[in-house]
Amino acid sequence: MTRRPIMAGNWKMNMLVAEAEALVNGLKAGLDGTEEVDVVVAPTYASLYPIAKVLSGSSIDLAAQNLHWEASGAYTGELSAAMLLDVGCKYVIIGHSERRQFFGETDETVNKRLKAALAAGLIPIVCVGEVLEERKSGRTWDVVGGQIREGLDGVSRSDAEKLVIAYEPVWAIGTGEVATPDQAQEIHAQIRGLVAELYDQGIADGLRIQYGGSVKPDNVRGLMDKPDVDGALVGGASLKAESFLGIVKF
Ligand code: 13P
Repeated sequence: MTRRPIMAGNWKMNMLVAEAEALVNGLKAGLDGTEEVDVVVAPTYASLYPIAKVLSGSSIDLAAQNLHWEASGAYTGELSAAMLLDVGCKYVIIGHSERRQFFGETDETVNKRLKAALAAGLIPIVCVGEVLEERKSGRTWDVVGGQIREGLDGVSRSDAEKLVIAYEPVWAIGTGEVATPDQAQEIHAQIRGLVAELYDQGIADGLRIQYGGSVKPDNVRGLMDKPDVDGALVGGASLKAESFLGIVKF
């Protein structure tokens, strides 16, 4: 089974509109469309619309960093799936560890966001991952498996087919301490196995699982060489065209 790699840049809360435009112009200039990789950028909400205009006609796709599960209404500060589609998003990141850690995200709210994204036709990138204490105490798979079971609860087989999952060990995010290719492969294989159990082998075989956490141009190759690593979700190294292009062209 060959899965098309997917490299996504999660810009988090970085870059003003002009900086964001310069970055995607740099990415466009460095890609000729023949890369056999899906390339995705996730700017801040404030930059989505202007970036969609710069990306128009390019092979780079747009993602949002979050969404709310309701369609509209009195939810100050939130954006709906329809609003993200309206400004040109194809993907949406759901359940990033920073949202779990700082903004009260739970597996239950991940599940609601996931269902809203799928119902609207956005492709969700669902993030899972353990913190250092959980890894040290041997509970990595309990935590990650639980996040997937609960996050995907009630998601149909035909919807599961559209998902991307990102395994991001929290201890590797922004620390420079990347998981080893073997550590990533171990969890990715377990995630694929669980998806086979929850759905079937066909869905599991087609599922793209990204690794995230201190991915850089010089460590991406070793990760991508592993059979169950299908791409990367990149923070810091996605903020410069040169380093993100180095990852895309691994
Ligand atoms: P870093 O690449 O900066 O470690 O961030 C990873 C991440 O959180 C991507 O979502």
